Amino acid sequence: MTTQDFIGKENFNIRTQTVSESCPSNIALIKYWGKYADQIPANPSISYTLNHCKTNTSMEFIANETFSVQTFLAGNEEVKFAEKIEKYFRNIEQYLPWILKGKYVIRTENTFPHSSGIASSASGFGAIAKCLMALDASFTGKKSEEESLRKASFLARLGSGSACRSLYNGLVVWGKTDEVSGSSDLFGVQYPDAEIHEVFKNFNDWVLLIHEGQKSVSSSVGHGLMKTNPYAERRFQEARENFVPMKEILKKGDMESFIKLVEHEALTLHAMMMMSEPAFILMKTGTLEVINKIWDFRRETKLPLFFTLDAGANVHLLFPGGAEDQIKSFIEAELLQYTQKNGVVKDVMRF
Ligand code: PMV
Repeated sequence: MTTQDFIGKENFNIRTQTVSESCPSNIALIKYWGKYADQIPANPSISYTLNHCKTNTSMEFIANETFSVQTFLAGNEEVKFAEKIEKYFRNIEQYLPWILKGKYVIRTENTFPHSSGIASSASGFGAIAKCLMALDASFTGKKSEEESLRKASFLARLGSGSACRSLYNGLVVWGKTDEVSGSSDLFGVQYPDAEIHEVFKNFNDWVLLIHEGQKSVSSSVGHGLMKTNPYAERRFQEARENFVPMKEILKKGDMESFIKLVEHEALTLHAMMMMSEPAFILMKTGTLEVINKIWDFRRETKLPLFFTLDAGANVHLLFPGGAEDQIKSFIEAELLQYTQKNGVVKDVMRF
């Protein structure tokens, strides 16, 4: 499929109405870091979709008013966010030709703590894209579930790249790779269920809130710095190559190799930040303490507790479901002390 396949029909019938949608967050296992124009990723990525960390959004469209956007986050008006959404809507007009023909009031709420450092852009843009597709169905006629989700994923990507993976449950791939049939740079696709060992279908992700609040460098600045990073091409190549073992690992249920690959990806992401010019570091002391404690724990117990990181200081603690009591006790007793306010968000993967 190409971008042309997503161009919207000029034939529409708009009316005032409100739609509500919900979309979960996701956590990448093979990371996307670096992009080209129009939100085309420099390498393919794969993520787990979360279950509890979600954004709930209601979108009121008032037809035939001058185009404007008003946004409320947990009841508080957010002017900066409204400006961002206004720009985004202008940018996607060719895909939804009715989009600038009215006024919007968008109310959005996250189920995870505000300013926890958990990325809300993936679930946020996912929910907005779903709302837009609900309005589009009503203005231009209903589409198949598959077509509508694909276009929602395409639109979400144009808001925030990783958001395109949040439209599907389970493991989701974004970015063209020969290892996953149907994969595309334009939207996310679900990784085939039959190719995933049972052990990976019941998984925990406990997010340790090491540092709550604003990040010192935003994702968009971070992606931009990959353009001049001398290690970027090697990194993109490595991410592409990592799909080969990942496929085998997922099929066989090879936990040991999974842990090695996922932790390597997380550390590579942060290594890229340190190798940028100017360099930046988003990990905090607590992040490093936790990583070392996890490694000690694994060495001593051989239990499958491991980590990944997104573009921030928080640590995503990953461990399979079942036989996890010892892991949970360890987290509570040994790792919570590194959080700012005993903050931990206990999530599971959504299958
Ligand atoms: O979607 P963005 O622009 O916020 O970038 C997200 C990048 C990472 O979270 C670090 C990795 C990923 O693949 O989600």
